[in-house]
Order: sequence, then structure tokens, then C-alpha cells
Amino acid sequence: MKTLLARIFGKKTPMTNLTIIGNGNMARGIATRALAGGQSVQILGQDAAKAQELAAELGAGVTSGSTVDVPQGNIVVLAVPFDAAKSVVRAYGDALAGKTIVDITNPVNFETFDSLVVEPGNSAAEEISQLAPAGAHVVKAFNTTFAGTLVAGESGGQPLDVFIAGDNGAANAAVSSLVDAGGMRPLVVGPLKRARELEGFQFVLMTMQANPEFADFNWDTGLQVTK
Ligand SMILES: NC(=O)c1ccc[n+]([C@@H]2O[C@H](COP(=O)([O-])OP(=O)(O)OC[C@H]3O[C@@H](n4cnc5c(N)ncnc54)[C@H](OP(=O)(O)O)[C@@H]3O)[C@@H](O)[C@H]2O)c1
Repeated sequence: MKTLLARIFGKKTPMTNLTIIGNGNMARGIATRALAGGQSVQILGQDAAKAQELAAELGAGVTSGSTVDVPQGNIVVLAVPFDAAKSVVRAYGDALAGKTIVDITNPVNFETFDSLVVEPGNSAAEEISQLAPAGAHVVKAFNTTFAGTLVAGESGGQPLDVFIAGDNGAANAAVSSLVDAGGMRPLVVGPLKRARELEGFQFVLMTMQANPEFADFNWDTGLQVTK
């Protein structure tokens, strides 16, 4: 029907340009910003009913399915925990070839809350990149933006800075466009190995949210570069 109407009115049916794997807090936040920027979004969950619930909450322009469905977007965001992100990339295999894969994970050791689970000199993004199929490009982004600030589109009344690291210029540019259209500032900070510092720094910010010394920090702070 949509295609028929598009033909009658001479408009193209919008293509899904962003797929989000996961239906939790970050899926909601990133989808909210993407929709504000006019993107069409596909939400894929390990439980299709939960994905459908989030899609319905987000409204028009959102489709849903399960993690056995093919990702439709050119950009695929892994909005799942680090171990799950690795499993998802392994399971999808060649279905992710040619995609820009966005790793948003913070590989924190949640048992100790005192270190990362990746070795020094490595990062979650680089580990995920090792598992990605040929022709896919992994980009680190959104790991320093808390989910609630993405839904709000701001922190402390300021627009959000989104730090981006990746080895492929076109993939970095695609993620930058998504970020910019959603009302945030994209900051491409360097190659994928800069994810080591982005993950380390966000770990510090996470410990600050949990630290009673910073009583007014409540997973709602923003990391911003000012001048
Ligand atoms: N929350 C933040 O502010 C924040 C900020 C920056 C980065 N991050 C990172 O973003 C990622 C997601 O965090 P979140 O806060 O959105 O977590 P969340 O609300 O707990 O959502 C996690 C999602 O992952 C799904 N999932 C878990 N294991 C899976 C698997 N094996 N296969 C497929 N899906 C699986 C869950 O599915 P079910 O619903 O079916 O359990 C759920 O949809 C994490 O890597 C986190 O480090 C979070």
C-alpha cells in the first residue's frame, strides 16, 4: 500500500537507514535521536515482542523484528552488552558485509566495577572489528552518551558531543551525519584504536555516577569539549 501511495504521489518509500540490535535503554535513546533527524529505524531484538513494544513506543518510521531477521540499515548499531555484541556479530556473519557497524559498548567488569574486561592495548571495538566480515567497518560511537541524555537530546541544557573513532572515512562520515541530523555534535577523534581511550574515559565517568562524592550525578552527565 505504501509503495502504491508513493507511486501515486511521486514520493519514494523511505528506506530503512538505521538498524538497532537491542531494545533496551540505548536502543531507545539512539532511535529517538535518529528519528528526530528524519531517519527510518529498524529495531531487532532477541525477543521480537520486546522489539515490537519499543517500536510502537517510538512511533512512525520504526519497524521491528528479531535477531534472526536481516538488518536492513546501512548503519547497524549494536545496542547490547559487549559479550552479546560479539555473539551478534558472529551470528550475523556475512549479513553484515558492507555495513557500518556501530559499537557503543562499555566493556566494564561489572563484578568488580574496578576495571575493563578488555586487556590494556585493546578495546571492545577492536575485538568486535576482528569478528566482523570483510567489507564491514566498525565505528566506535555513543559510548560516552548516557541513554537518558540521548532521549532528552541534551545534558545540562547543552547539546551532546558524540565521540567517534574508526578506520574508514566513509563509515565515520555516515555516523557523523546520523549524529549531526539528530541535533548532536559529531567529533571524529581518530582511528578505531582511539576506542581504547573512549572506553577508559567512560569507565571513569561511570564510576563518578556511582560515587556518593558526586551526589548530583545520576547517569545524566554529558562529556563535552568546550573552547
Ligand atoms: N545505558 C547507558 O547509558 C549506556 C551508555 C553508553 C553505552 N552503553 C552501552 O550500550 C549497550 C546497551 O546498554 P543498555 O543500557 O541499552 O542496556 P539494556 O537496557 O540492559 O538493554 C540491553 C539489550 O541487549 C539485549 N541483549 C542482551 N543479550 C543479548 C543477546 N545475547 N543477543 C541479543 N540481544 C541481547 C537485551 O535484550 P532483552 O531485552 O531481551 O534482555 C536488551 O534489549 C551496553 O553495551 C552498554 O555498555 C550504555
